[in-house]
Amino acid sequence: MSLVALEGVTKHVLLPDDTRLDILRGIDLEIGAGDHVSIVGRSGSGKSTLLNLLGMLDSPSEGTVSFRGDAVGRMGQAKLDRLRGRNVGYVFQQFNLLPGRSALENVAMPLSYAKGREFWARKTIAADMLDRVGLSHRLESPPEQLSGGEQQRVAIARALVRRPALILADEPTGALDVETGGAVMTLLDDIASEAEAALVTITHDVHVAARARRHYRLEAGVLAPVELDLAFRETALGAIAEAPAGVQ
Ligand SMILES: Nc1ncnc2c1ncn2[C@@H]1O[C@H](COP(=O)(O)OP(=O)(O)OP(=O)(O)O)[C@@H](O)[C@H]1O
Ligand SMILES: [Mg+2]
Repeated sequence: MSLVALEGVTKHVLLPDDTRLDILRGIDLEIGAGDHVSIVGRSGSGKSTLLNLLGMLDSPSEGTVSFRGDAVGRMGQAKLDRLRGRNVGYVFQQFNLLPGRSALENVAMPLSYAKGREFWARKTIAADMLDRVGLSHRLESPPEQLSGGEQQRVAIARALVRRPALILADEPTGALDVETGGAVMTLLDDIASEAEAALVTITHDVHVAARARRHYRLEAGVLAPVELDLAFRETALGAIAEAPAGVQ
């Protein structure tokens, strides 16, 4: 059975001038347990919107999202919150860390909804996870005192701390240098395989995409499978065409 599945999913919004913006069109996508999928696509192509639907943070305009065979649209809010909290780890493009709270408090936060040992030992579990992302010396620092790459690693530690069945990562290496990015992706891969979790990664980086087993490209809201070579060429060309003068 699939872990999460989208069937005939569309997403559109009404803009202030009353025109309709079609963000996603006719998306069919099945993610199995332990699957490893990458999604590439230009800025504005709908990648984060798609990830929010996979993570059950947003609902589609049409079509169905199901988790382990259950239609998400028919679940009550409390069940949905529990399901997400227990099973989904998000690495958001903008990190979404709590300001004024230490790295340790940020990473322990998802465990405050857990039961038993996970709850009682939450500080130790969070500290271990921060150690794995190389931040054991920054446990007490709030996000505003951390660099972009350090904040990204805190966000990754927070996403992984409950060993979710589904890890959704939106540009997880976007703020990192090549070496740190490689180390962080290895960590994401390791933890995903330890817990047999599925990992869906949105990325502009072909080396990150290359770690996945299946590759997709999102273009103007349409999702299509791609061979990596093609994804590489299109992304590289797209990046060059899109880069403003003087950049790179
Ligand atoms: N709630 C909304 N209301 C209006 N427009 C929206 C809304 N959410 C997303 N959009 C638009 O939908 C398109 C897709 O947005 P999305 O954030 O999914 O793109 P993306 O592929 O993640 O881009 P990036 O690579 O820049 O992060 C964009 O043009 C965005 O402006
Ligand atoms: Mg995005």
